[in-house]
Amino acid sequence: MSNESIFLPQEFIRRKRDGLDLSVSDINRFVAGITDSSVTDAQISSFAMAVFFNGMSADEGAALTLAMRSSGDVINWCDHGFDADAPITDKHSTGGVGDKVSIMLAPIVAACGAYVPMVSGRGLGHTGGTLDKLQAIPDYDALPDIETFAATVKDVGCSIIGQTGSLAPADRKFYSIRDVTATVESVPLITASILSKKLAAGLGSLVMDVKFGSGAFMNDINEARELAENIVRVAGTAGVPTTALLTDMNQVLGRTAGHAVEMLEVVDFLTSPSDAEPRLVQVTLALAGHMLLLSGLYGDFTSAFNAAKNALDDGRAASVFAKMVAVQGGPRDLIEKPHDYLKLAGESLPVFANGSGNLSQTDTRAIGNAIIILGGGRTNPNDKIDMAVGLSAVQPVGTNLDAHTPFCMVHARDADTAKAAALMIQNALTTSQETVSPTPITVETIQADGKG
Ligand code: URA
Repeated sequence: MSNESIFLPQEFIRRKRDGLDLSVSDINRFVAGITDSSVTDAQISSFAMAVFFNGMSADEGAALTLAMRSSGDVINWCDHGFDADAPITDKHSTGGVGDKVSIMLAPIVAACGAYVPMVSGRGLGHTGGTLDKLQAIPDYDALPDIETFAATVKDVGCSIIGQTGSLAPADRKFYSIRDVTATVESVPLITASILSKKLAAGLGSLVMDVKFGSGAFMNDINEARELAENIVRVAGTAGVPTTALLTDMNQVLGRTAGHAVEMLEVVDFLTSPSDAEPRLVQVTLALAGHMLLLSGLYGDFTSAFNAAKNALDDGRAASVFAKMVAVQGGPRDLIEKPHDYLKLAGESLPVFANGSGNLSQTDTRAIGNAIIILGGGRTNPNDKIDMAVGLSAVQPVGTNLDAHTPFCMVHARDADTAKAAALMIQNALTTSQETVSPTPITVETIQADGKG
């Protein structure tokens, strides 16, 4: 028996635990073991923890990304009737609380002429997932086969789905284990997870929303920058030009957090953009501008940004969204009658700050965890999410909170859970007697040359 044929997962994990190098071939074999279940969940979580503590070299990280990408199908759009130079682009976020941006962004960018085949993920840790949010829409098929996915992208311009059985299956398994084993916050693991899905989707370009702050996986902006640079570098090596924006996640994004409640905000955003929460508008249009620029449809950022803004303001993006939902099996009149389909849980409770003052800081991770307590997140990979729970009317940093102005409304299944979540959220709020100025949402752009 040659050495090449011997692979013991425990020895592979031990090497990473002890800070030794991993070979490309062993990384490939471990990932193959994740995919065919010959490596156990315990081994996957131990490996994740070893990487969490010891990191990975650039070569190991690239090898993990490519192995996870190749663990299933890699889409070639030419096989589905697209021209070789079709503007196929996508965006991915590293995750936050209230981050429903993808669901508005894909239709906006599609309305401007690009194709957006978006493969999204489930909630992870304290953050919500685009895939879970879409599943709040009754009958929305988020797991079509590749042919149906491609046909929807061709017909509508965009399609948002989850990882089907055949797209980066190793990431799907790895991700669900990281979600519940405190092993999310690792630059190489996040890079491999995101890019394996995105590279499998056969993109021409990618824009990353890399979040920092109390509701992000990377609290510190320097860590977020390191993650952004790593993603831009690895994606570039794999032939996908990528731009990353560093964006602020020190507060809930938009006015809602949860599932059905966020979908209601998405519909409002697309149908009445002038009333949308300003930070949500800013980040969505900035990402749209970069997607349209990278996809080559516009020659400069300002024209790309303005095109995205027009598509939002004149209702074309709302029409694309409505069509996508209908084509994927959801209600044909979702945007006309969102409340008929997106129901909230019966118990609601306002959350007041401890004392009055201007909201100066939120512990956004704790707010995300309060949503898990409500049933809107998982503590076990197989948990079913309660789509009807969450938070609405969330106030931005700078708001004057007093006994008449709550920070948000909690929507829960029963009074006890509502109270427990409300207490967690109350303890996550800091107020100040000083005036609090709003913080910018988009702070840095990192492009392929590594420059900010
Ligand atoms: N999003 C992903 O898809 N994977 C991660 O690991 C983190 C955010």
